[in-house]
Amino acid sequence: MGKWWVNKMKTLSLIKFGIAIGLVYGLGLLISSDRTVPNSEFIPEMVHSVAYDSYAPNPNFADGKTLQMPPEGTIALGFMPEYPDGELTKENAGKVLKSPFDIETMDLARGAKVYATFCQVCHGLTGDGDGPVTKRGVPPPPSLKTDRVRNMMDGDIYYLISKGVGNMPPYSVQVKREDRWLVTHFIKTMK
Ligand code: HEC
Repeated sequence: MGKWWVNKMKTLSLIKFGIAIGLVYGLGLLISSDRTVPNSEFIPEMVHSVAYDSYAPNPNFADGKTLQMPPEGTIALGFMPEYPDGELTKENAGKVLKSPFDIETMDLARGAKVYATFCQVCHGLTGDGDGPVTKRGVPPPPSLKTDRVRNMMDGDIYYLISKGVGNMPPYSVQVKREDRWLVTHFIKTMK
């Protein structure tokens, strides 16, 4: 038999080992085995942002608001104006606005999708001006399958979609530029 202190050392190591196993097992209990259930959170500030909500009062700014106006003269990414204010008019739109698309390779199906989403309600399935809202009091638009529309310059149609005309509202906010060009090309193919 070994000396008494050797046995004591062995017992101590065994206890330490037991504690270590216990700790690992205990931590394991905090981690859920079901992936759809969130694990226990400690230090929740690291999980949940402590940022201010957009509309929450904010003492860090002079006006006390979280949402700040962009500095004057700045342009949001992707919203570069096509032309400086006043340079583009209803009269010159057809000449100065040029489609970025090649008629041969463009995605006309995308244009059809834009039409179905934004235009069909008024202009109708096939462009006859008999969309569902025209049966509910909205004045029916003219047919799009006319020589008038086919002969319009692309830029003029693009401008008209962007700015609206008569009873037709502007679509520059809802429909992005590329899509406005594609739907322009699409309506010219309507027969
Ligand atoms: C809320 C109904 C409505 C929606 C939606 C609408 N339009 Fe119109 N559109 C009209 C009306 C009404 C006119 C006729 C405006 C006028 O001349 O007074 C018109 C006119 C037009 C014209 C000119 C036709 C011509 O002979 O002068 C074109 C081109 C046109 N729309 C394309 C579109 C496209 C493309 C979309 C979808 C991005 C669209 N419209 C969405 C109602 C609508």
